[in-house]
This record gives sequence, C-alpha cells and structure tokens, in this order.
Amino acid sequence: MSTPSIKAVIPAAGLGTRFLPATKAMPKEMLPVVDKPAIQYVVEEAVAAGIDDVLVIIGRNKNALANHFDRVTELEHTLEQKGDLTKLERVMEASSLADVHFVRQGDPKGLGHAVLRAQKHVGDETFAVLLGDDLIDARDPLLTRMIEVSHGQSATVVALMEVDPSQIHLYGCADVEPTADPDVVRINALVEKPSADEAPSNLAIIGRYVLKPEIFDVLERTEPGKGGEIQLTDALQQLAGDEQLAGPVLGVVFGGRRYDTGDRLDYLKSSIQLALDRDDLGPALGAWIKELAETL
Ligand code: G1P
Repeated sequence: MSTPSIKAVIPAAGLGTRFLPATKAMPKEMLPVVDKPAIQYVVEEAVAAGIDDVLVIIGRNKNALANHFDRVTELEHTLEQKGDLTKLERVMEASSLADVHFVRQGDPKGLGHAVLRAQKHVGDETFAVLLGDDLIDARDPLLTRMIEVSHGQSATVVALMEVDPSQIHLYGCADVEPTADPDVVRINALVEKPSADEAPSNLAIIGRYVLKPEIFDVLERTEPGKGGEIQLTDALQQLAGDEQLAGPVLGVVFGGRRYDTGDRLDYLKSSIQLALDRDDLGPALGAWIKELAETL
C-alpha cells in the first residue's frame, strides 16, 4: 500500500540535565553516537519513511542544531580542494537529507506543549513525532509501518514495546486489546510513567507517534500532568477515551532493535552496539572488548 507523504516533528528542547556538563552549551540531541549526532539518525529514519519535511522544536542553544543541518561552505571547499571526497560526502549528508525547519518552544512546559508548537507548520494534516532519545535500527523499519496503519485505519498510532515491569515507570504505558493484525493493538487507555503496581501492562510508549491534527485541540485543553508538564500521553489518553474525537488510537508493537540514548549508561551501550555493527569499527572494537572483559 502506498502511503501519503507527511511531515515529521522532532522535539529537541529538553534541558538534557542527565548529560551535564556536556549539554551545558549544546543540546543533548547533538551528542555523537559513534560519529553522528543523535538527531541525524532520527532525521535519517524519517527520510527512510518517505518524509522530506522536518520541523525541529528547539530550546536554548539552538545554533548547533541549525548549523548541523546547514551547508558549511568553507569546509566543503577545503575538502573539495584536497580531493577528500569521502569526508566531503559525510559533511554534506546532513544538509541534503530533508527540508529542516526550526521553531522555538519558548517556555519548556513539556512534550505536549512542544508538539503544540508544531501546529502552524503542520496545519490540518496527519504528522509524525520522533523523540531523539530512542534510536530505531534502520534495518527494522517502524515508522513506515505506523504510517501505513494510520493511513489504512484513519487512526492515531503510537509505537509500543514490551519492557521489564521494573522499567515501566520511565515510560507512558498502554492498556490494550488485540486486533486482527498481530503487530497492532487497540489502545483503551494510557498513563504517563505509572508505578509498577499501577501499570496496566508492560507495554511502554517508545518515542514514535503518528498523530492526527485533532491532537492540537486536545493539547490546548490538556492541563499539566506528571511533573507539572503538559503531557502528550495525557492528550492521547483523551483521544483513546473518546473515539468520536479523532477515530481510534492504535499501537504498533515493535519487536526490533531500539537503542536508548536517554541516560548515560544506555547512551554508552547504544554507542558500543552501533559501533560493533559497523564494518570500519566493529572488528577492532569487538576484539578490544573481549580483551578488556578478561581483565574485569
Ligand atoms: C516521553 C513520554 C513518554 C514516553 C517516552 C519515550 O518521556 O512522555 O510517554 O514513554 O518519552 O522515550 P521522557 O522520556 O521524555 O520523559
């Protein structure tokens, strides 16, 4: 089934306090995972799903992000003069991926508030939201499937993944029932970061959403929730509770490879896993890890 082209929104206005001091003068989305900033993987994922228009919601320290997706003519010229075409290609990758736009969040009032800032750019269309803390392996396309499900059933679609119950308090959590599609569930209710006791399941929202424009009206009416922030999960919970608002809320249950870069330990693990998979770094890194393991 061919899917229509949609826009992507990437909220990148968080304070990144878990990575201080690295994020003192730089957004956390610019932290390198191997040799690319995390946000470039996310834009590449959107492009792979057929998206060519990306809006990044920025906070302070926006310059690094804007510069990354812009041309850098002096450097391009120098590399061209030297005949270093491999590096030239690498430097130009980010600026030729997609049309990347920026809007400031203003007050950091939460993920729901950040998404609301996209209303003018997105207009009256379905759009995707991708959070930079979750990297999805390019070999396991998730967003393409979500767009297909959203289009086919005129639904809001959230990516879900099974997590260990001890981890559910870190995520939005879904109460679901099966559908005829084995990888798709109907979402009856959502709760943001419940305790293990209160959680309706071990299905966690991972940072991919395909949203319908009706979400904007709901977000405007959504009161601050967990942490005093306007939560996207709370707005989705309202949609799930009333199908008249915007049709069903469905979950695509992802069983592929996801790398979490949200905290320091997971970030280190993700960098190592992604480097191990690469032909240029994997063999030498793997050999070193084996040697190192013997000394631990
Ligand atoms: C956000 C969402 C949460 C979701 C998570 C996925 O939380 O509020 O529902 O499960 O992203 O990464 P955050 O991690 O930004 O606190």
